[in-house]
Amino acid sequence: MRSGMPKPGEFLWGTATAAHQIEGNNVNSDFWVVEHATPTLFREPSGDACDSYHRYNEDAALAAGLGFNAHRFGIEWARIEPEPGRFSAAALDHYARVLESCRRHGLAPMVTLSHWTVPRWFAARGGFEQADSVDLFARFADKVGRRLGGLMTAATTFNEANIGRLARVLFNADGPRFRAASRAMFAAAAEASGSDRFASVLFPDLARSEENQIAAHVAAVQALKAADDLPVGLTLTMQAVEAAEPGADVEAFTDELYGAWLGAAEPCDFVGVQTYTRIRVGAAGRLPPPEGAERTGAGYEFYPQALGDTIRFAAERLRKPIYVTENGIATDDDARRVAYIDAALAELRRAQADGIDVRGYFHWSLLDNFEWTAGYSQKFGLVAVDRASFERTPKPSARHLGRIASSART
Ligand code: FCB
Repeated sequence: MRSGMPKPGEFLWGTATAAHQIEGNNVNSDFWVVEHATPTLFREPSGDACDSYHRYNEDAALAAGLGFNAHRFGIEWARIEPEPGRFSAAALDHYARVLESCRRHGLAPMVTLSHWTVPRWFAARGGFEQADSVDLFARFADKVGRRLGGLMTAATTFNEANIGRLARVLFNADGPRFRAASRAMFAAAAEASGSDRFASVLFPDLARSEENQIAAHVAAVQALKAADDLPVGLTLTMQAVEAAEPGADVEAFTDELYGAWLGAAEPCDFVGVQTYTRIRVGAAGRLPPPEGAERTGAGYEFYPQALGDTIRFAAERLRKPIYVTENGIATDDDARRVAYIDAALAELRRAQADGIDVRGYFHWSLLDNFEWTAGYSQKFGLVAVDRASFERTPKPSARHLGRIASSART
């Protein structure tokens, strides 16, 4: 194990995880409801996930042992505020123990307040479609800041705040087929919750929710800063957007992808860049990957070079220090993960050599985990997890990135 926390200003090398994807039995969250709804868009329910709610110490030891000096993870609002206005001291204590475990292992903790999940009661009252969602989210941020802020190295509000926009440009989430499927799932979730509505961050009605969600983000930044003046950031899903044909309107496409979220980074101390691939734009909109291009296990193009573009885009448009808070690949061939990491890090180093202020790299993900609608079918982990015993087995890529992380610091 490394001794001591990274020094201020030291580059952060870590892995990224999300509460719902690894903790298990997150029964009070909105995702638990939609995973069990009929019909559902989910391949399978999250169930025990990686049982990290109980194994967080083992996970921290694993990450530190591999050579990392930082760890990105999420806390679960549904556990901390199981009923509106009722905050669980025991859940807050639990996350204090997780943070202390990180620190004991020399891992600087970067904490996500909401990695897409919200309490089921919050979804069942209309989520961010309700104007008072702003105050509810800020109240949660305030409680978290007061109790846990002093243990964090940094916090971020929403994971990939613009995810609804990515879904719209990538999966035509506003199209009639997808809308019908998600509406049916939410109708079932509403019924199961004894409500006439159910609103999620992952499949949002942007016209009704985006403005409130941006205001909630700003209010949460203020609440966290007032409670404990720690660095606070915003993470965005940022894919390289390339013109692949004459007449491609990259500017319009970029506006569609980010909307007002670029401005929402203003009150933040840093931005989190989350990049997986590139999007090619033609004269009539998005184009598929080039013929014969290698695809990852998640279907998108194997294109680690995208990280160079997105870091530069973030530097130019957001003018804040940058952490790469997610970057990775779904694959059953771990050698391709090693190749992806090397190519992505070469881009990161080039950006730094050009004077861009990149302060950390968090690989998605530490563990093979619950990948939302894809269930357990996509393997993004540096470490394999046995689905019955929860035993963790590092893959060669884990040692590879761990070695890079530790040798960069010596
Ligand atoms: C990102 C999400 C993360 C994970 C990766 C593969 O969009 O933030 O939770 O699912 O994709």
